[in-house]
Amino acid sequence: MSKNFDVVVIGGGPGGYIAAIRAAQLGFNTACIDEWKNEKGGPAPGGTCTNVGCIPSKALLQSSEHYEHASHGFAEHGIEVKGLGLNLEKMLGRKNTVVKQNNDGILYLFKKNKVAFFHGRGSFVKGDGNGYEIKVAGAAEETITAKHVIVATGSNARALPGAEFDEKLILSNTGALAISEVPKKLGVIGAGVIGLEMGSVWRRLGAEVTVLEALPTFLGAVDEQIAKEAHKLLTKQGLAVNLGVKIGTIKAGKNSVSVEYTDAKGEAHTGEFDKLIISIGRTPNTIGLNAEGVGLKLDERGFIAVDGDCKTNLPNVWAVGDVVRGPMLAHKAEEEGVAVAERIAGQHGHVNFNTIPWVIYTSPEIAWVGKTEQQLKAEGVQYKAGTFPFLANGRARALGDTSGMVKFLADAKTDEILGVHIVGPMASELISEAVVAMEFRASSEDIARICHAHPSLSEATKEAALAVDKRALNF
Ligand code: FAD
Ligand code: NAI
Repeated sequence: MSKNFDVVVIGGGPGGYIAAIRAAQLGFNTACIDEWKNEKGGPAPGGTCTNVGCIPSKALLQSSEHYEHASHGFAEHGIEVKGLGLNLEKMLGRKNTVVKQNNDGILYLFKKNKVAFFHGRGSFVKGDGNGYEIKVAGAAEETITAKHVIVATGSNARALPGAEFDEKLILSNTGALAISEVPKKLGVIGAGVIGLEMGSVWRRLGAEVTVLEALPTFLGAVDEQIAKEAHKLLTKQGLAVNLGVKIGTIKAGKNSVSVEYTDAKGEAHTGEFDKLIISIGRTPNTIGLNAEGVGLKLDERGFIAVDGDCKTNLPNVWAVGDVVRGPMLAHKAEEEGVAVAERIAGQHGHVNFNTIPWVIYTSPEIAWVGKTEQQLKAEGVQYKAGTFPFLANGRARALGDTSGMVKFLADAKTDEILGVHIVGPMASELISEAVVAMEFRASSEDIARICHAHPSLSEATKEAALAVDKRALNF
């Protein structure tokens, strides 16, 4: 017998599980289908983010940073560490525990909000504006029906042709988060977000890391001044970033991988690595959904085609998160999930794409919101800039982490904040103030006039806002 729902969500990552919870909160009889399995074959909702993305990477970034502090950073604080050791198995175990806590947390939230959870793969059988039939293929097979369907099937790591992931030597994010022995030499193809975060983890734990990036510029989407500073700081730590390379043949041997490439000058090299991470972007995942069977339209790059409201070409079918256009970020997926549930309820759900923050969790962290200086120049917008270095911030000195800066970009005439860019300690937390300010269309003067606690890193934000008007007080 088929089970009827108002809303069925396919995919239980941040886009899907949040959409399901919001739909249930709004009074809809809601189901969420997710196929991710834990080691024992049981359900592990939370998607890429929880299982092999945001959460485990941040757990390892934290652990590896503690290790680096203990091995290099504590001495200047007068803390002497003798007999320091690395128990990688325990570190990875802790990461797995953190993941499991998040999986369990989502299952608890489903119960609390009365979302029916189905563990298995969901695929369209048939349907129209009156309702859809969805087959769930899991431990048991069943068919459920719903008036509205939200597709949130996420993304997969993009492979390089001829170098498929085996997760032993050639690693996607999944393998990169579970290397059981610190590699002596680690190769990373792609100096994007994953390359820099995972490269940092393994460098801190002792690997010699070589990053090979196709583009001639480092972090091309980041404000140039911030990207330059980040490049300088990360290179100084020992991350060898090679820009403008062209990757040739990749060969996996028994215990190592060789990568042929030419550098920016056109000189040929062969890199020999114990492990190779390939992090060159992600592709939308519509495998097994039977999109073609019901005529669900994909765009030319394989994303589910949606309009600004996440509506697909099929009536009452919506899609959110990594499987649709826009940045592949967990919080973007969540915002879309909430907005779609609210639209189904006849409300005016809204996602402001101009104020989605980005964070790269290296050390120092890199975070930004809004326009970069190069974008404003290209758009011919007249702007003023103000920067403030953490070197002149008392809290940063006390922390022993004075690298980086905060940068404000504001409209030359109205002073409205157009972008805020940070490289420095706790940039991931500091950026929130800028997001709030931009959501309220604040001016840089608004931030400059707000009282910020002393001593705090947030004073650097205030000072950068003051610097827009050339009146920083501490620099
Ligand atoms: P996903 O999280 O991919 O979830 C999709 C879910 O749907 C999966 O569980 C999948 O198994 C399931 N599914 C797919 N097809 C079906 C089907 N037919 N039936 C049933 N279930 C199905 N973003 C950030 O914002 N911050 C970070 O710090 C961050 N770190 C990251 C680190 C790494 C290493 C990686 C790889 C990504 C990171 N991201 C980060 C990106 C983030 O993980 C994604 O943007 C986010 O997970 C997208 O959410 P989603 O719900 O769209 O898809
Ligand atoms: P990415 O898009 O961030 O970076 C990919 C890099 O690989 C780019 O610099 C690109 O120029 C380079 N590249 C592409 N093809 C190449 C080739 N053939 N040879 C050499 N270099 C090549 O993608 P990444 O790092 O795989 O991450 C995927 C996405 O996951 C990110 O864009 C982001 O949306 C999300 N993510 C977010 C995180 C966060 O928010 N902190 C952390 C990790 C991932």
